[in-house]
Amino acid sequence: MEIRLENVWFTYDGSSYVLKNVNLEFANPGLYILMGPNGSGKTTLLKIISLLFKPTKGRVLIDNADFWNMIEKDKQEVRSRIAYVRDKPILVRGTARYNLELGLKLRNNVEVDKSLINNLVKRYMLEDLLSKPASKLSSGQAKIITILRALILNPRILALDEPFTFLDNTRTMLLIQDLAKLVDNGSIIIIATHYMHRDLRTRAKQITELVNGEIIHT
Ligand SMILES: Nc1ncnc2c1ncn2[C@@H]1O[C@H](COP(=O)(O)OP(=O)(O)OP(=O)(O)O)[C@@H](O)[C@H]1O
Ligand SMILES: [Mg+2]
Repeated sequence: MEIRLENVWFTYDGSSYVLKNVNLEFANPGLYILMGPNGSGKTTLLKIISLLFKPTKGRVLIDNADFWNMIEKDKQEVRSRIAYVRDKPILVRGTARYNLELGLKLRNNVEVDKSLINNLVKRYMLEDLLSKPASKLSSGQAKIITILRALILNPRILALDEPFTFLDNTRTMLLIQDLAKLVDNGSIIIIATHYMHRDLRTRAKQITELVNGEIIHT
């Protein structure tokens, strides 16, 4: 699956544009990084890429078809292959395990693959958390749960907004490794971040810099 943004503009208030004529293409598997100062438009752009926001002007092409002109059924099908993880983790009432499994349950309506989940839980050292209520998790614990919840969907396109804030070094390294694995399996991963971890830079396929809603460098 390929995503192309063509002359994308976006305004929240109808007067000032926070994205200005953005052209970007995500055609091949890889780790794509969006960088830029606070307020430069990274989150807005990521939501447009994830098909959550419709551009005020311009087009989003999915395999050359204009997403926002698709019929509802096709939109749903495309969206089912994309996962977006917010910067601030939001969990629902229930245990950490319930939250971790929720994405799979909602999306595929299939039995959750317990061994996949158990392996991830071990890998990220989350065993002790699983039976805790989501409301009692620390910020980093909540964040990793929301990221893993998206990872286990095996999305073709995964958009992560500031995934490393709140995460410690060990889990950051594990996550970068797991993202690289997902890329090896053919996924496109797009990360908005301030923090350019060294491992991330070396693995990045493309680094795009946004200033004031404009791409200054890609
Ligand atoms: N819901 C909103 N309503 C109105 N303006 C908004 C809204 N969300 C963001 N903005 C504005 O749009 C611009 C881009 O914001 P955005 O959140 O996309 O930036 P960002 O690069 O993700 O910033 P940060 O690094 O702080 O996360 C900012 O000027 C911001 O004030
Ligand atoms: Mg942001």
